[in-house]
Amino acid sequence: MRWFEAHPASRVFGTMSVPGDKSISHRALMLSGVAEGVSEVSGFLASEDCLATLGAMRALGVRIEQPAATRVVIHGAGLHGLRPAGRPLDMGNAGTAMRLFTGLLSAQDFDSQLIGDASLMQRPMERVAKPLREMGADVRTHNGTPPVDISGAKRLRGIDYRMPMASAQVKSAILLAALYAAEPTTVTAPAASRDHSERMLEGCGVRISTEGLSTTLHPPSRLSALHLNVPGDFSSAAFFIVAGLLAAPVEGLLIQNVGLNPTRTGLLDILRSMGGSIEILNARRSGAEPVADLRVRTSPLRGIRVPKELVSLAIDEMPVLFIAAACAQGETWVTGAEELRVKESDRIAAMSAGLAALNVAHSPLPDGMRIEGRGSGAQDRPAFSSGEVDSLGDHRIAMSFAIASLRAAGPILIRDVANVATSFPGFVGLAQSVGLAIRETAV
Ligand code: S3P
Repeated sequence: MRWFEAHPASRVFGTMSVPGDKSISHRALMLSGVAEGVSEVSGFLASEDCLATLGAMRALGVRIEQPAATRVVIHGAGLHGLRPAGRPLDMGNAGTAMRLFTGLLSAQDFDSQLIGDASLMQRPMERVAKPLREMGADVRTHNGTPPVDISGAKRLRGIDYRMPMASAQVKSAILLAALYAAEPTTVTAPAASRDHSERMLEGCGVRISTEGLSTTLHPPSRLSALHLNVPGDFSSAAFFIVAGLLAAPVEGLLIQNVGLNPTRTGLLDILRSMGGSIEILNARRSGAEPVADLRVRTSPLRGIRVPKELVSLAIDEMPVLFIAAACAQGETWVTGAEELRVKESDRIAAMSAGLAALNVAHSPLPDGMRIEGRGSGAQDRPAFSSGEVDSLGDHRIAMSFAIASLRAAGPILIRDVANVATSFPGFVGLAQSVGLAIRETAV
């Protein structure tokens, strides 16, 4: 079992950059695998999740070279060039990989089976299976969870689908299957979710039209190859944005090359309305995606009621937002975040247990959290006691409590942290390099 031992540190400082975006890295492998020609991706996230996708694409017959950890060259097999893997495809901990592959593989002329680790084997898959069945696919789950069995050689039809939840994974799974459908497909969401698939599909020459919360894909005859430079993952930067707000001196902590796709940056709006000082510098584009550098300084935070429309734009950042809220003055309320219950862990329960272990007054809600911040404007006052928390094998829970150490009265021990490698390889070294007193141990 791997643990983090995170000791209080007084400040974070310097210049850093975070690894590539996880959502974009998964999509780049899948789309360029069915494109025509050679795609080149730099800034690729070589984390366990994305390497599961890379391994699966190879097993499906796509030639992929990896001349450096963060560079991949994909020799596209074309829309109809994938081959049966001949064995179950193991997605590890990666929900994005499993859901997007369910869409892509539904449209192939061979059968597939998708499996994953203990956490993934308990996550809901009917949310993708149901619309894909409406398209004519043959997808079976086991009481709603993996293994996912897909029988191929089905003719898919275009559908007009209203998603019950604002899920980019469900939307993307449908769009991938829709590449192969006989008619256009429209997906309508109850709220905005990340739109990397849409941007990248357009980059491959696919006609996509968007109207409000509806996205329509017109099936193409081919996809063209991609040349991508993946920006730093906003969700990984989020841990250091909060770290900077809690403990960066006036020069600030500079986080370079962060993807700022507006469907991902709800946390920026939330933290700014709590009083956070976050400067956006050198705003630019990397292909279809906006990118910038961020300078973050220690700021006295105040609790807020988080507007519901920002929740789906900050869904992966909720755990570290709860850490910021515990350091704010007054109460913070998050509601409308029931999706947190079905992430890599039940993130409401996992955060509640950890906050309780560190003596933070809070109440878990069915769809969110109420947190009583202990901030008083005095930056050096601890907001967390020393204690032991269980990440439940969830990478974002582990990293969130590591950041809490900046305002803790004593060491925080965090259990079961190996899965940090699913999204953020090198987290500990990077955190140490900007001043966090954290180390990983094996017990
Ligand atoms: C992701 C979508 C989100 C997010 C996940 C990555 C994606 O999940 O939580 O970490 O890459 O499409 P949902 O689609 O379930 O909201």
